[in-house]
Amino acid sequence: MRYRLDVNGEMREADVPASTTLLDVLREDFGLTGSHLGCGHGACGACYVLVDSEPAASCTMSVEEAEGRHIVTVEGLAPAGSLHPVQQAFVDGDAMQCGACTTGMVISTVSLLMKNPHPAEGEILDAMSPHLCRCGAYGRVVKAVQSVRGVAL
Ligand code: FES
Ligand code: FES
Repeated sequence: MRYRLDVNGEMREADVPASTTLLDVLREDFGLTGSHLGCGHGACGACYVLVDSEPAASCTMSVEEAEGRHIVTVEGLAPAGSLHPVQQAFVDGDAMQCGACTTGMVISTVSLLMKNPHPAEGEILDAMSPHLCRCGAYGRVVKAVQSVRGVAL
């Protein structure tokens, strides 16, 4: 089946079976490897992308479900060669170790700050709750998010 997907503001086509996950299409067909495969079951947050501005697991969404939605991956947050303010805050705050979880956390942070530019610590923790970090960078992640509060996105 041929699907047309709106990814990072561009219409792209993939010729794949209907059951193919959005994550596989992003990585294998479009070469957008910033979204990571962790659990593959919607339980770790590594594969999160924005779907109509809401964070969503791309490992459990089929390409069929993704068609007609506005998809933004981590690659689409900022023009090539630059960093989105949230990405910069994670770099400046050393809010990662291996980086496996970082894409998903950045995506959820962007969504949080778009809705709530001044989240309290508890609201940041709620937004990060779908994301598992094996390296235990949670404390630095919260500080990085706090550092970027109030920045116009
Ligand atoms: S890989 Fe998608 S939630 Fe874990
Ligand atoms: S930085 Fe390694 S899993 Fe989070």
